[in-house]
Amino acid sequence: MTSFLGPEYRPARLPHILAHAHPYWKRRHITRTQFAYTALVWIAGSLALAGTTWVCFQSHVDISTASLILRLVVVVLALFTSFFSSFLFAILGATLLDYFFTKPLFHLSVYRREDVVALLTFTITTLVVSALIRYIRLLGNVQREQARLLDLTNDSIFVRDDGDIIRYWNRAAESLYGWKRSEAIGKHAYTLLATVFPCSLEEINHALFQTGHWEGELVHTTRDGAKLVLASRWSVQIDANGKLCAILESNTDITRRKQAEEALRRSEAEFLAEAQRLSQTGSFAWNTQTSAVSWSAQTFRIFEYDATVPPSIELFFARLHPEDATSARSAFATAVAAKRHLDLDTRLLMPDGAIKHVHVVAHALETAPAGVQYIGAVMDVSAARRAEEQIRSTQAELERISRATVLGVLSASIAHEVGQPLAAIMTFGQTAQRWIVREPPELDEVHGCLDGVIASATRASSIVQRVRDMTSRTTAQRELLNLNDVADEMAALLSWELSRHGIELQFKLAQSLPPILANRIQLQQVLMNLLVNAMQAMSGSAGEQRNIMVESRLDDSGHVTVAVRDSGPGIHTDDLQRLFEAFYTTKSAGMGMGLSICRSIVVSHCGRIWAANNADCGATFSFSLPPARKPAAQETGDKTCPSAP
Ligand SMILES: Nc1ncnc2c1ncn2[C@@H]1O[C@H](COP(=O)(O)OP(=O)(O)OP(=O)(O)O)[C@@H](O)[C@H]1O
Ligand SMILES: [Mg+2]
Repeated sequence: MTSFLGPEYRPARLPHILAHAHPYWKRRHITRTQFAYTALVWIAGSLALAGTTWVCFQSHVDISTASLILRLVVVVLALFTSFFSSFLFAILGATLLDYFFTKPLFHLSVYRREDVVALLTFTITTLVVSALIRYIRLLGNVQREQARLLDLTNDSIFVRDDGDIIRYWNRAAESLYGWKRSEAIGKHAYTLLATVFPCSLEEINHALFQTGHWEGELVHTTRDGAKLVLASRWSVQIDANGKLCAILESNTDITRRKQAEEALRRSEAEFLAEAQRLSQTGSFAWNTQTSAVSWSAQTFRIFEYDATVPPSIELFFARLHPEDATSARSAFATAVAAKRHLDLDTRLLMPDGAIKHVHVVAHALETAPAGVQYIGAVMDVSAARRAEEQIRSTQAELERISRATVLGVLSASIAHEVGQPLAAIMTFGQTAQRWIVREPPELDEVHGCLDGVIASATRASSIVQRVRDMTSRTTAQRELLNLNDVADEMAALLSWELSRHGIELQFKLAQSLPPILANRIQLQQVLMNLLVNAMQAMSGSAGEQRNIMVESRLDDSGHVTVAVRDSGPGIHTDDLQRLFEAFYTTKSAGMGMGLSICRSIVVSHCGRIWAANNADCGATFSFSLPPARKPAAQETGDKTCPSAP
């Protein structure tokens, strides 16, 4: 019989038993009951030996028969007591044989050699047989104890032999699988349990013979047909010849845990799918080496493909808007070549003609030397783009309304500006008439008058054009500008209005300012708002000196700064923080949008705007803008601010 508890559970061997067969006087802890039991066995044993000898003597049997019978008695006694007691019984038996069966009878001395041999043979064989009997008993006890321990564990444990026939079946296995020990033992393990292995049996056996152990997950079927998932641990016992003796299989039922994990995984997947649907974000994976692509359900929805279609990178490219296809493809190619992350805004053209804006981000994970694995997300940002477009359009409309409002304030000034060239045209016309009726007509003078007419008409037309520009919607067009020119243009439009209010307009413009890349009409609007605000601030302060100073300079950081300084009442300290907020006004007819629009325009040009009270009187509103960077940036709609101050 082999031990099924693996290498650490070795059955007791004879030397071990003998080594542990301490005589009683050497044992430290002998209880009174043990002593009484031993004494009883000794007395009973001695009486049994004496009685048996007496019966043999009376029956006139020879010494060999008597020694055989006495040996049997000693061996039987060995079942009840220690090896030391067996030794004493063997000595007693030998003594009795000597006394009753060797010559001289009833005497303890031995004279014949054959009697000495018979007594020695009796003693030695009795001791050996007793030791063997005890060894077998101890072995049985150890195995019973091992089996009892195996019954205590909650794991189902069974032992099968090299033919996979079940040889041991613990109590936990009985309750887990439903078969009693008597029913399971002798059956073929895999057939009884309908085992489903995680890999081929050859692979498992290979690992088992290599290391002596194997661990993995199995599926077993119980008596009532339920499928159980088990964490299984196998230990193998191999004999001295390297032959498999037994396999101990210890199984923990993890069915509930697996179900919980599966439920969690499913609910996580559902949450993820719902979150992707709500956020309009799909996910994807793409292996550039194998071209393997996987898409989440939301990715299929964004690209408007049926979820049964096998996803591919070509399906993605097929949806690209024709105008964006080249740039998107080259962005992909560049990222893949450099094994870099991908961040791309592009448009998709759907089969029904609808346009979607998507933002694609993908993280590159290095795989094989030649390939990259991308894990990414694709976000449908169409709604956000539409909202941005709506905001931009509303903002532009607001700016236009604000400009029209300011132009309303300046209507008298505009009328005056247009009226002047018209009056000049009238004068030139009348003069030309007079020169032409002369005899002979003074054609050179007439020619000069016509030049004057053309120049005045051009001037009037340019003023009308400027007003028309300012009332139209601005485009995103930006051009290289000199801020001094813009200041001059606004001053020309406002000069009459300012002088009407008794305000003196002064300039202190720095020469050779670097050009800025800006939208002319928007900058005109900024300056016009600041000038009109300054004019309105001073219109209430009667009799005092009124002047506005427009100053331009290059600041320390190389930005072009324009300041509009007035001699008005200045700004209340509490209001300084709120000036640029939308709808903040202290004027009864004001909208409170002027400065707010100025700020949004300046910020969109990567600049900043601020206000401060002057040391003496009045306030100064300043804004600064970065100089144009390089020719490549002088295209339309460049709104990046690499170094916003
Ligand atoms: N130069 C200035 N001096 C003193 N206060 C000023 C000056 N410029 C602006 N303010 C204050 O800032 C407020 C906001 O100005 P903003 O131009 O935004 O709106 P508004 O002039 O009141 O109305 P509108 O929308 O018609 O321009 C003004 O109402 C005024 O109180
Ligand atoms: Mg204003």
